[in-house]
Amino acid sequence: METTSTSLKAHVEVMGRIVELPLVVGTEQEVAIDGQQLRSETGAILLDPGFGNTGACMSKITFIDGERGILRYRGYPIEELASGAGFLEVASLLIHGELPNEAEFAAFEDEVRHHTMLHENYRRFFDALPMDAHPMPTCAAAIGALSTFYQGDLARDDVRTHVIRLIAKMPTIVAYSYKHSIGQPPVYPRNDLGYAANFLHMMFSTPCEPYRVDSVKARALERLLILHADHEQNCSTSTVRLVGSSNANLYASIAAGISALWGPLHGGANQEVIEMLTRIEAEGGDADAYVARARQRGDSTRLMGFGHRVYKNFDPRAVLLKHSCSELRDTMDVRSSRLLDIAFRLEEIALEDDYFIRRRLYPNVDFYSGILYLMLGIPVNLFTAMFALGRMPGWIAHWLEMKQDPSTRIGRPRQIYVGPTKRPYLPRPERS
Ligand code: CMC
Repeated sequence: METTSTSLKAHVEVMGRIVELPLVVGTEQEVAIDGQQLRSETGAILLDPGFGNTGACMSKITFIDGERGILRYRGYPIEELASGAGFLEVASLLIHGELPNEAEFAAFEDEVRHHTMLHENYRRFFDALPMDAHPMPTCAAAIGALSTFYQGDLARDDVRTHVIRLIAKMPTIVAYSYKHSIGQPPVYPRNDLGYAANFLHMMFSTPCEPYRVDSVKARALERLLILHADHEQNCSTSTVRLVGSSNANLYASIAAGISALWGPLHGGANQEVIEMLTRIEAEGGDADAYVARARQRGDSTRLMGFGHRVYKNFDPRAVLLKHSCSELRDTMDVRSSRLLDIAFRLEEIALEDDYFIRRRLYPNVDFYSGILYLMLGIPVNLFTAMFALGRMPGWIAHWLEMKQDPSTRIGRPRQIYVGPTKRPYLPRPERS
């Protein structure tokens, strides 16, 4: 990956020795100290738990400015993509680097449409799992297992077909995992429908009753998926890159990313938000009391869907989703509507609360996405799998970028050892 050359240098003093390290400047003027020679020059490493100050790579995919609430995919503002583009168009942009023209889009969409089915033998994979299996481990295992159907192809170098398969089959896998959990037969994809509409069809049709896809709901889902599609070096994407850096295949890397996304501090937060709102409602709707608990020292309660490692003023995705919630309010069922009222109230209280103001905690993408999923009829335990469905093109784009970058090395952080120093082994009878 090319860097913007600069004559600027950083001078770092380590135990009396001053070394000069190059600075790297990105296209948006972000600055990094290139520390690749730090250890060989000084013997010291950089200790940065949580990687808050560590750039793991250079990337051309997504730009975020957390201070100014900016999110752009390949240079295009998220607001413009969310209002003008479809999900597959955004997927193509992320994966190929440019927005597709008519012919390129038609070819991409056609390929995706014709890879939506799962191998019939693979359907039995779902039967092996308990009915109440959480969809996230099901999806992680399913994506790992998918690779076993394409082992011959994996040995060859045709990564494009795998990319298309993952984008095309993920909705089928998520919908099958839902159908399995409610004891209904899986519904085959319909290739005459768009990406989101086909997903809703697989979720809500049954062999005895078709589901009429509501275009407003299909559009709302496309928008949600676009907002999930990428978010640069977040926990799951970094996992995909790290696993892929060992030359693990695309399916194995993405399966690991799905597992990382499952955590409640990452993608799992959208499920936690609805559970939190439901609890508040069940306890009488006292949003003030909940916020008071979330800011209490020693109480582990967090205001789920609030705070972000990068966004420190607002998360533009949350702003767009809040707007969608307000727009779709009339089509909401009573439960979603009541939870939305509580969410509005929580946000209002938290944004005026000194604790949240001082720590610069604002609603993140997960605060309003759950309410929209609820409105679409998506069950709560499937929310994080929906996030995974949307994030698929981002994971793929990063994996491809990492593979194509000649500077990629196996990801292998160092550590500072703080355990016991050397001591002799004593046979068991001699130990106190
Ligand atoms: N409620 C109450 N306090 C909070 C919250 C919250 N949601 N988030 C952070 N804090 C406090 C935290 O206790 C700490 O306070 P203090 O300085 O007194 O110890 C301070 O704010 C900094 O928090 P942190 O955990 O060190 O910040 P982080 O950058 O490591 O974590 C976060 C970011 C998103 C994990 C965190 O804000 C959080 O747990 N939020 C709730 C879970 C959530 O909504 N996750 C979804 C993230 S967005 C979707 C995605 O990209 O995955």
